[in-house]
Amino acid sequence: MTEAVTVTREGEIAIVTIDNPPVNALSFHVRQPLQQAIATLRDDAAVAAIVITCAGRTFVAGADITEFGKPMQQPELRDIIATLETVDKPTVAAIHGTALGGGLELALGCHFRVADAKARLGLPEVKLGLLPGGGGTIRLPRLVGAEKALKLIVSGVPVSAGEALSSGLADAVFDADLVANAVGFARKKVAEGHKPIAVRDRTDRLTGTDLAAFDNQAAELAKKARGLEAPLACAQSVRNAITLPFDEALAKERELFAKLVAGDQSRAQRHLFFAEREAAKVPGIGKEVQPRTVARVGIIGAGTMGGGIAMAFVNGGIPVTLLEMNREALDRGLATIEKNYSISVSRGSLSEDAKAKRMAAFKPTTDYADLADCDLVIEAVFEDMAVKKEVFGKLDKIVKPGTILATNTSYLDVNEIAGSTSRPENFLGLHFFSPANVMKLLEIVRGTRTSPEALATALAFARKIGKVPVVVGVCHGFVGNRMLGARGQETENLLLEGASPQQIDKVFTDFGWPMGPFQMWDLAGLDIGWRNRKAQGKTAVIADALCEQGRFGQKTGRGIYLYESGSRTPVPDPEVAALIEEKAKSAGITRRSISADEITERTLYPMINEGTKILEEGIAARASDIDIVWVNGYGFPVGKGGPMFWAGLEGFGKILERLEYWHRRTSKDVFRPSEMLKKAARTGKLSDD
Ligand code: 3HC
Ligand code: NAI
Repeated sequence: MTEAVTVTREGEIAIVTIDNPPVNALSFHVRQPLQQAIATLRDDAAVAAIVITCAGRTFVAGADITEFGKPMQQPELRDIIATLETVDKPTVAAIHGTALGGGLELALGCHFRVADAKARLGLPEVKLGLLPGGGGTIRLPRLVGAEKALKLIVSGVPVSAGEALSSGLADAVFDADLVANAVGFARKKVAEGHKPIAVRDRTDRLTGTDLAAFDNQAAELAKKARGLEAPLACAQSVRNAITLPFDEALAKERELFAKLVAGDQSRAQRHLFFAEREAAKVPGIGKEVQPRTVARVGIIGAGTMGGGIAMAFVNGGIPVTLLEMNREALDRGLATIEKNYSISVSRGSLSEDAKAKRMAAFKPTTDYADLADCDLVIEAVFEDMAVKKEVFGKLDKIVKPGTILATNTSYLDVNEIAGSTSRPENFLGLHFFSPANVMKLLEIVRGTRTSPEALATALAFARKIGKVPVVVGVCHGFVGNRMLGARGQETENLLLEGASPQQIDKVFTDFGWPMGPFQMWDLAGLDIGWRNRKAQGKTAVIADALCEQGRFGQKTGRGIYLYESGSRTPVPDPEVAALIEEKAKSAGITRRSISADEITERTLYPMINEGTKILEEGIAARASDIDIVWVNGYGFPVGKGGPMFWAGLEGFGKILERLEYWHRRTSKDVFRPSEMLKKAARTGKLSDD
């Protein structure tokens, strides 16, 4: 094993190199020798300056997250930084790749930061439910001012080397030869002969901060936090940096960090960090399975989904051949795509030039022959088995032998569609979420005959276009929509039995969901479900009655709620309340008061139960995969870690007991507890590992 920390010399300049693959996290076996090396070099009269750099692909990407939740071994990061600040000769952090979290905090402990032009610098702790705990909230404002620091810390989004330079976070940026240039930079500082000033002692950027403006900015951020504690703690700590002496502010940051790291929200968010990486690893598919190159993608159907999927690929640098039934539908689809890019231009997130380049990457056609050179073709036509089979029948004859064919179906049997082609091994489901150019989740549906190469290829291009992929098996609705179905089964009954739409929605928004099920009905449009139900000979008392009155939701200005012209704010409608009462009466139901707990038990608990059935059937490989689906595709609150993680916090025993109660009362299948849930109630966990 190589040394985690080595020291070399370039004349009177010492270079400390951290080497802890893959991301140079500050694990205990790094911290100890790093602390030692800094103290030794500080006391070595032959050393005039110290450069801290990293081997491998990146500068330090943060504290070692796997060490959180356990007693921290000494020295801690703050001890190392405190030692760094006792060095009175120039100290320089030489940053390449990403300097994140504790990594950037280490760099803030140096007098100077120099960066490779491609480097990114940030404090992403908030995404783990934390605040920077190594002095980041107290030192960063001293370099870039409180307002910029607050934005960087609360968003968790890193900045480029160029931005770091212009804000004062970096002192120099180099296109190449980072370490040699860092040594040159250090030499220059030695030659200048000034006593370097530690970041902790710089106050010029803080003096004169407009506290009232800062508080307004923080209040705006608090509104968006939706029940998350970390963004508020970040803002509080940056405020302390302005109002309190350095050491006092630092001690308070420490207290806030200790509280957050021990809390459920951070545990949940750390769980999601590792879950996302785990989801990308598919049992049985190792590094030996080589993904195929996907240089061009064909997409059939330029409607809601096809257009969004096409944009996702083009945005990820993969050109698209877009096919529609006729010229008119094609032009309509392209016009929507162009409109979406124009919105980005008007918001300043895309240049006119980049928009033109993206539009040029679409090759529109109505001729299947134009798809012959595609490496992947995704179908996003109407949700109709016969139409889909017809499309794949044509495609199968035209595309190259190794081309992967995929369907974006929401519910149809992927194995049946695959079986209608001559290449089931090169067939899979790619279930994107709407809007597909924005939503991160991609359910990759593995058919019984899908080959490992096809799956590995899907995982590779998913990441290339910035999606979070989760591999799932074939069943009605896959993971997400199947559980959504279980969540929604009792919502109408709750209305009939006595709850109001706004009461149910409030239970959901209080939980942390961006909206409740009825707000969702109105947003998506009630007519879609109505059409599907009619096609399947099914009914839904309230939803059908609303549709019969032309109340389709936001698009018609009224659905379960009313919407003032152009507004998206739902207003409860007495007519709907009367309709619910009338329907309840005709069904012979005596309405009663319904508690928030009952709403949770009859919506979220069945959804958890369905999740365990999905695991039993092997449709999802791990409980954490289900969490990734729900957080990235359906707005499950990140601070609760996804439905299966939350179930552990809620208590499997409690969930089982209430499901059994409702099952006894109603005999409904949705409440019938799975064997896995029964076992989890005994063992306290969902799996054996
Ligand atoms: N601690 C422990 N393991 C880490 C880690 C960390 N900080 N960062 C990444 N890893 C692990 C990943 O789990 C993964 O392990 P695996 O191969 O076994 O799945 C491996 O390193 C590679 O990570 P990625 O797959 O994410 O690699 P990428 O190249 O795609 O991304 C990265 C690299 C941008 C550095 C990304 O890993 C990342 O964002 N890491 C987390 C950064 C972060 O949140 N830092 C703050 C930590 S909290 C902190 O510092 C507290 C301090 O204020 C006291
Ligand atoms: P849509 O109705 O907006 O678009 C379908 C498009 O396919 C239309 O533009 C139509 O002209 C075109 N089309 C139909 N038959 C065709 C054919 N034979 N050849 C070429 N083009 C044809 O429908 P949407 O919402 O985009 O759905 C498409 C698929 O995606 C469906 O299977 C749906 O279940 C699935 N899906 C939909 C989601 C949504 O939120 N809308 C989410 C995830 C999946």
